[in-house]
Amino acid sequence: MKLIIDTDPGIDDAMAIAYAAAAPEIELVGLTTVFGNTYVHQSSRNARYLLDKLGLSIPVAQGASFPRGSESHTPSEYVHGPEGFGDLTDIPEIGYNHALPAAEFLAEMARVHKGELVVCAIGPLTNIADAIRLDPEFSSNLKRLVIMGGAVFCPGNITEHAEANIYHDAAAANEVFATPPETVLVGLDVTLKTLYEAADFEALASRSPHMGAFLHDISRFYLKFYKEIGGLEGCGLHDSTAVIACTHDPMFDMASIGLQVIAHGPELGATRPDPSRPSISVCRNVDGAEVVRLFTDRVASLP
Ligand code: RIB
Ligand code: CA
Repeated sequence: MKLIIDTDPGIDDAMAIAYAAAAPEIELVGLTTVFGNTYVHQSSRNARYLLDKLGLSIPVAQGASFPRGSESHTPSEYVHGPEGFGDLTDIPEIGYNHALPAAEFLAEMARVHKGELVVCAIGPLTNIADAIRLDPEFSSNLKRLVIMGGAVFCPGNITEHAEANIYHDAAAANEVFATPPETVLVGLDVTLKTLYEAADFEALASRSPHMGAFLHDISRFYLKFYKEIGGLEGCGLHDSTAVIACTHDPMFDMASIGLQVIAHGPELGATRPDPSRPSISVCRNVDGAEVVRLFTDRVASLP
């Protein structure tokens, strides 16, 4: 399966990209970057650094710096760290961004790989909404869009109502859900069932001394945030669960639901069922331990 990941790396994004590199069913065609956990220039630098560590020579196309209708975005450094990879600093610029902006790259790749390309969006949906606006055939050219986002039947994580990716660009998310391609939503309803604990990272590092050890090192910061703010003994495999849903959808219980995003006020970013909207496949349940096992076994196979 040909895959492009739209990403704001980001610690759990790094885990998801490593998983994609290790998954035998996945041919990673490229990455597109967006603001969110980091500033977009940091997302692009981190993406290229990660691909170099993984030994992958694929394009990174940079996308949106800000959400719809805004001229600024300030990342929450206390979640993913000042540079997006926890305590890691002085992350080198390796290689260059692709010449095309993310939305044009997404539209072009969907055309070139008509009917074969899956896009997995694990950051705010600005680039996806831009691609839909840019090319009226983008959605029909895509095989599927898989989104890490939303909290449909459970509380949010950035506020009690909203999940972070949707919250960071509620207007773009609303545009996507108004005219969605074939879409699977992998929200907190399932990703919070996939907690990855310190012992899991230690086991991963012992089995994969290069990549596993890197993920172990950058996860310290993230685990501290989850413990101090969320009172949890692990971090959610949010983005990896979405990438796994790209190839292993039978693992997930899904329901066909149309979604509206609250675009203003105290419930900004909330994802609410709306029968007037086109239905998408919303993940309702998953065996979290099975996701954790699949993630670990595959990433542990990396050097
Ligand atoms: O709510 C979790 C999502 O927000 C993940 O994609 C994480 O990387 C952050 O972007
Ligand atoms: Ca992310």
